[in-house]
Amino acid sequence: MHFDAIGRVPGDPILGLMGAYASDPNPNKFDLGVGVYKDAQGLTPIPRSVKLAEQRLVDRQDTKIYIGGHGDAAFGKVINELVLGSDSKLIATQTPGGTGALRLSADFIAHCLPGRGVWLSDPTWPIHETIFAAAGVKVSHYPYVGNDNRLDVEAMLATLNQVPEGDVVLLHACCHNPTGFDLGHADWQRVLDVVRSRKLLPLIDFAYQGFGDGLEQDAWAVRLFAAELPEVLITSSCSKNFGLYRDRTGALIVCTQDAEKLLDVRSQLAHIARNLWSTPPDHGAAVVATILGDAELKRLWIDEVEAMRQRIAQLRAGLVEALQPHGLAERFAHIGVQRGMFSYTGLSPAQVQALREQHSVYMVSSGRANVAGIDATRLDLLASAIASVCKG
Ligand code: LMR
Repeated sequence: MHFDAIGRVPGDPILGLMGAYASDPNPNKFDLGVGVYKDAQGLTPIPRSVKLAEQRLVDRQDTKIYIGGHGDAAFGKVINELVLGSDSKLIATQTPGGTGALRLSADFIAHCLPGRGVWLSDPTWPIHETIFAAAGVKVSHYPYVGNDNRLDVEAMLATLNQVPEGDVVLLHACCHNPTGFDLGHADWQRVLDVVRSRKLLPLIDFAYQGFGDGLEQDAWAVRLFAAELPEVLITSSCSKNFGLYRDRTGALIVCTQDAEKLLDVRSQLAHIARNLWSTPPDHGAAVVATILGDAELKRLWIDEVEAMRQRIAQLRAGLVEALQPHGLAERFAHIGVQRGMFSYTGLSPAQVQALREQHSVYMVSSGRANVAGIDATRLDLLASAIASVCKG
């Protein structure tokens, strides 16, 4: 038969955990797998600003006609201002989530910059690896976090200094996924110098704006690169900070100093997108445009993002504190230093497996824990589970 030669591939290393967690009957299970924010009730709520914007859309939206290849210009304007600041006059291309923006970038590189490779941090989000490979772009790596689970900026710079001129370097704007280790301002400046001197094209993935040090603070490196370099690509995601995960809302921002060249590049993006998803989904982007275009809704949303950010910071501190009685606070002190949803805990794949099998604690086999998924009322239980696999 036609399908006889087709084999089975393993499930997604991150999304696959959702099903495994859901079918675990243990009432004391912990979901630290896929990167979704959970509140004190263990729910991933729809932010109130989103609900209000959706209500307005239900009342006022009068057509579902196609939007163009770049999506809604109103969304493109406000998301660009969120990322690059209100002085920036660029219009972003709307994409199905940040993942869509990455795939569009990958296909753009493959089609319009043939022969250029992409350099990813080691480690990085596993889907970075597969997206560029699927687009036919050669993938290489620069060191980021070593076996000692520490950020190694010197090793990163040493490798970037060897990258062939013209290649693309993918950087995480903030809240590095999976490690949670972010570059400091001085580090970013050094990376910028190398990118400039080696004539590399930076592609900055900005998926967690607002979850690190704040909405404006998290945009610092992106704005530095956009101001200092002639050409930059930026992918932005609204999944986490707007809680729009399933509505697939994201954007690709192309920065060029040459206005005519920008039109050329944007024409290529619309052409590539037409072959990928034709036109992007509208609902989430319409919600974001409604929120960011209304002073009151925007104020409410900023407060909601800040509340999520603060809760994650408290969970980080709380987990380190809960590990104290087990003599493990120092060993896991990095959890308090890392930023965003994720922590590269330093737990081995065997320890991650033991946590899952013996304590129903679900995290990615790399040792990445979604701190934003922790139940604050059961920090002691989680700390005991971690202690038992560390000592066992
Ligand atoms: C994650 O890394 O868990 C999130 O970015 C969700 C995803 O799509 O993998």
